Amino acid sequence: MGDIVDPHLRPRRSVLAVPGSSPKFIDKAQGLPVDSFFLDLEDAVARGAKEAARKNVVAALNNGDWTGKTRVVRVNDLTTQWAYRDVIQVVEGAGENIDCVMLPKVQNAEQVHWLSILLTQIEQAMGYENGRIGIEAQIESALGLTNVNHIAFASSRLETIIFGPADFMASINMRSLNVGALHPDYVGDPFHYIHMRLLMAARARGIQAIDGPYLQIRDLVAFEEAAKRSATLGFDGKWVLHPTQIDLANQIYSPQQEDYDHAELILDAYDYHTSAAGGERGAVMLGDEMIDEASRKMALVLSAKGRAAGMQRTTKFEPPE
Ligand code: GLV
Ligand code: MG
Repeated sequence: MGDIVDPHLRPRRSVLAVPGSSPKFIDKAQGLPVDSFFLDLEDAVARGAKEAARKNVVAALNNGDWTGKTRVVRVNDLTTQWAYRDVIQVVEGAGENIDCVMLPKVQNAEQVHWLSILLTQIEQAMGYENGRIGIEAQIESALGLTNVNHIAFASSRLETIIFGPADFMASINMRSLNVGALHPDYVGDPFHYIHMRLLMAARARGIQAIDGPYLQIRDLVAFEEAAKRSATLGFDGKWVLHPTQIDLANQIYSPQQEDYDHAELILDAYDYHTSAAGGERGAVMLGDEMIDEASRKMALVLSAKGRAAGMQRTTKFEPPE
């Protein structure tokens, strides 16, 4: 457990937010090239539309064509009257077509336990495979961030820690309404500390860290800049709110071709030099670069991300004469 993200985790470079109350958006989402999407029962759905949205979501999961996408439903948070019925109705109705339930505004590990136990009960009652449905935890408050290290370890179902910048900014009284963006009055990145804490908790547990939305959907330059900041730290993907953000997210959260090629070469060189044919050495050379077991680990992460994104290598390892 820990450090390196399991390459078998589901892809989530781009995570599309889709209001569960909108058949039009639900239809459109099926044709978009996102790694993952979530049908929302929470903040994109008005109070009066919550119950109808559950029915829409069940029908969309059972009858839609979501091939190749990680299928997620965001339920309401545990302080609301809707949470338990959201989980029961949607998972009983469409559990075999759901990969994960996203829990927003998670405040502590107990809230994740609650969801995990409820999912187990529904799986038993419905005859679903035990433990298949994962949990995605959104951290969106000062309290959630304070407890994130426990939250990350709360359930074997947990697959991601997700940053919810809009609610988070409200929670800490951040003096900006430009969600996820840099601020002219602040030198540096106001989200760096939060990103790093979420990333550390996720990586300590060996799960994914996903960045939240960028709300100014026409400003692709700022979206790209925000995405690059979290991708550079090591985040695995970001929410997208509009089709124009999708290709950018898929690109930015995939390794660059040059880095992917380099990682595959490191793995080949390390395998060769540590084998009998290569002299069974521990620290070895790849051209002018010294590589060792730690370099191999870094290369493994990059190559796993590249392979998961379907990248092809453009260089080949040649053993020295
Ligand atoms: C997402 O849920 C956010 O609050 O930013
Ligand atoms: Mg939120």
